[in-house]
Amino acid sequence: MGVLKKRYILAENLRAKKIWQRLRLRLTETFRFFYVFLRARLFRCIDYCGTIFKFYVKNRSFAKTDLTIIGEYWLDSPFAISKRYLQLKLELDIYQYGETPLLTIEKIAKQAHITEQDRVFELGSGTGRCAFWLTYFTGCRVVGVEQIPDFVDFSSQLVEKDDFLKEKINFIRDDFLSTDLSPATVVYCYGTKLTNAQIETLIFNLSKTQPGTIVITVSYHLNEIISVSENQTILGKYFHLISKFDAEFLWGKATVFIQKVSSS
Ligand SMILES: C[S@@+](CC[C@H](N)C(=O)[O-])C[C@H]1O[C@@H](n2cnc3c(N)ncnc32)[C@H](O)[C@@H]1O
Repeated sequence: MGVLKKRYILAENLRAKKIWQRLRLRLTETFRFFYVFLRARLFRCIDYCGTIFKFYVKNRSFAKTDLTIIGEYWLDSPFAISKRYLQLKLELDIYQYGETPLLTIEKIAKQAHITEQDRVFELGSGTGRCAFWLTYFTGCRVVGVEQIPDFVDFSSQLVEKDDFLKEKINFIRDDFLSTDLSPATVVYCYGTKLTNAQIETLIFNLSKTQPGTIVITVSYHLNEIISVSENQTILGKYFHLISKFDAEFLWGKATVFIQKVSSS
């Protein structure tokens, strides 16, 4: 066989190998995507069954509120609303929306010992489902801070219709990186898509809360961020880790960190 023919066969083999590698990568990615998608769907179903049997049965008012929220976003989902909002803001990552499953917020409320004495600030309250759950099942007061006007408008309408909720919940349209968090006794932030720079701004804002305030974050522990931040010395307050545990979220398990603000 001539040298040219050998080279040609070698080049063809190499090309076929590359095509096969690319195809395998695509197949793995597609498979992974469907696995995550199906897992999320299945988990939603499980969480919803739990919600019916554990929460709707116990509290009819909560059931009514929650079903109204689900009905409102049945055709135009919160994911789609959030995506459109982020597209208008020209954000690079437009897939930021996710909800804390109600069975998980129950676990978080227990671990953080949230009671009716508390004033919880939920940073990025989305459709408000967690805020309503917290009020109905722990009796605490909640301030939901949210940037998307559609979410704030609808959850505020629900509050306006009910005297009990009017006393307990307030939804405000604001950027939680600059909201005054000083009245909070508990702060909950499920913002796994925040950049490190945003988390640093959040830490700076949280450093103005009262010592003893409980701060709950998902996926990251605030002290880890502080330790790499140049602002470390300016902050003056530290977030002491009280406990951490794994909990189910729509896209898989994540670690929840419960921290306490201290004065030194
Ligand atoms: C991952 S979702 C969490 C929703 C809800 N807290 C829950 O756990 O079910 C994050 C929410 O935070 C909102 N958000 C993100 N950055 C924000 C900011 N800087 N100020 C106010 N809201 C923000 C988003 O619009 C979104 O609704």
